[in-house]
Parts: sequence; structure tokens; C-alpha cells
Amino acid sequence: MKKEETLVRKGILDLKPYIPGKPIEEVQQELGLKEVIKLASNETSIGPSPLALEAIKKEIKNINLYPEGSSRALREKLAHKLNLDPEMIIVGNGADDVIDVIGMTFINEGDEVIAGEVTFPAYETITTIMGGKFLPVKLKDYSLDLEEMSRCLNDRTKLIFLCNPNNPTGTMVDKEAVDNFLKQVPEKVVVVFDEAYCDYVEDPAYPDSLSYIREGRKVITLRTFSKIAGIAGLRAGYGIANADLIGYLRRVVNPFTTNRLAQVAAAASLDDQKHRKKVLQTNQEGKSYLYKELKALGLFYLPTETNFIFIDLKRDSTTVFNELLKKGVIVRPGGMYGCPTFIRVTIGTAYENQKFIGALQEVTNKK
Ligand SMILES: Cc1ncc(COP(=O)(O)O)c(C=O)c1O
Repeated sequence: MKKEETLVRKGILDLKPYIPGKPIEEVQQELGLKEVIKLASNETSIGPSPLALEAIKKEIKNINLYPEGSSRALREKLAHKLNLDPEMIIVGNGADDVIDVIGMTFINEGDEVIAGEVTFPAYETITTIMGGKFLPVKLKDYSLDLEEMSRCLNDRTKLIFLCNPNNPTGTMVDKEAVDNFLKQVPEKVVVVFDEAYCDYVEDPAYPDSLSYIREGRKVITLRTFSKIAGIAGLRAGYGIANADLIGYLRRVVNPFTTNRLAQVAAAASLDDQKHRKKVLQTNQEGKSYLYKELKALGLFYLPTETNFIFIDLKRDSTTVFNELLKKGVIVRPGGMYGCPTFIRVTIGTAYENQKFIGALQEVTNKK
């Protein structure tokens, strides 16, 4: 053991740093490429809402002042839109921040936290940091297996993270399955629905997690402005729950966690129905195109309820990832999710999708 290793808290040594999607600038520099497209982090390729940009321009002169600590105006706007009390909402520095705050608020050493085995990695990270025990439950047909999860419940269960739709598979669990699952979950267990991609869902059987909160369940719903609203670079996300649970989270969250520009841009993007429609339309068209081309290439992919597609290349996907990089296309290799033959590809603009398919054709034909 290195000397420094005795300094850090238990659990930290078990962590591996999160590997984010490679930034465009880095790939341009490393490989000397002029044009690079990024389909690795499920951002919005068509850019942010013009209303958000206007709001930022107006607000920028005020950045000498700390932001409003609890994002009051944004919470009120969200509350109005969702027909909730503003006290039922907490805004964070991205949904990532709210996930950490949930972990810090609820997980004692030895508490058990249940989530999918192939899912968003942040749930395991914060559980490990807090000294909790993470229970990854195998997926069934590439979806969260709620029946198996309910078999894992016991006295030590503290939290359950349901990523719905699930990242990286793009699959969702439906209302009937969630209703049945919640009947098995004891009152004292907090169930977190991570709905980062809810806006893209087309299946009418998608559950309304806010209805569980209204019924008085210990449910926290997470949403973000990084995806459909297109302001991932500013960092704004939020959690919704009953006012008592939100009150505990507020004790933990950093006082000025969401910056001024993020707050006003997020609020403005809520008004921009035109931008939202355009994002959804681009996504639907891109999805149909990619399905068609992937089928033509004979590749297995999971039908998605999100803005990304999980594709099984049936071979080591890191090699394909590196070959695609050389062609100026950044995707996400599945290895970090324990799926070493898969890649996860964000649905981009028509141009980006065509460029990806062209590059994939060349790379996979190479053998
Ligand atoms: C399922 C899921 N939850 C949360 C996040 C984090 O979102 P944010 O950018 O708001 O921190 C992401 C980001 O990719 C995600 O995929």
C-alpha cells in the first residue's frame, strides 16, 4: 500500500475516476483533425435554445454577485409548470450534483443501495464514497429487472436508483412494472427515478413518477437541463420530492451550487417550445435513419426511448472506438458499462448521423 493511501477514506481506493466522453478539442489536437463530431455524451447537437442565449446575455453583467442560493425563480417556474409546490424542488449543479447530495444525505456506512448492473455510474460512485454497499442487479432483456430488485430488498436497503429510461441501454420500465415494484418496497426506502431522458420517451406506458410523490411515497424524481434543453455546459438539474425530503437535501447541498447563467438559461429554456419541438423532431428523424442504416449493416441495436442508441458490434468495441476517433467521430465504448462489445452513440443532426454511419461502415468493413 502506498503511504498516501492510508490518508484517504475507506472506499475511495475502490473508486475509478469517471471517464467522460472525450472532448472535441482534445481529439482535434491529438489527431490533428479539423472536423470532429461528438456523439459520446448525449448532448443536444442542434445547440441551446435561443431564448436561453438571450437570457445569458442579459445576466452576464451580474456575475460579480453570487447567485440566488436555492434558484428560487427557477424553482417557482418549474413548480408552476409541474403543478407542485416550489418547496418540493431542489436545483443542483446538474443532476449529477443532486445524485451526490442524495447519497450524502441518506447513505450511512453499511447501508445497501440497489440499482441496475448496467446503468449510470454515478449511483455506485456516491454509494462507495459514503461507505454504502452497492448492489448491482443484472438486467433482464437489457432492461432494469424490477422483480429481481425486489428480491434484493432487506432491512439494510436504504436507496434504490431506477434510471428510467436507462443509460446506456435506452430501455424503460413501464408503469405496470413500477406500480407492482413499489408495492414491494418498504415505506422507509427512498426510490430515486433518474429521468434525465424522460422528454424523449415515446412509449405511452412510461410511468408518471410524480404521481408516486403526490401519493406520498418516498420517491425522488431527477431531471436535467443538459439533454433536451441543450445547456449541459452550464450545469443545471433538479430533484422533486415531498418537501420534507427536499428539506434534508437542502441542508447538504452547496449554498451557491447553481450559477447565475445556468439559472436564467434553464428558466428561459422552459419557455422555448419551438426549440424543444425541434430537438424532438431531429431526434425522431435521426433515430429512424440510424435504425435503418444499422439494420442494413446487420448490426444489433437496442430500440431506444432516449437520444442515444446502444449498439452491439459483436467484437471489441474499444478498437472500433479508436478507429472512429481517427475519422473524427467520438462515441462511447461500452467497456465502462461492463459491455465491451457495445458502443453508445448519441443521435445527432442528420449530418452527424450520416458521418457516423459512413465512418462505421468503413471501420467495420476493414476487418
Ligand atoms: C441518467 C443520467 N442521469 C444524470 C445525468 C447527469 O446529468 P447532468 O448533466 O444534469 O449532471 C446524466 C448525464 O449524462 C445521465 O445520463
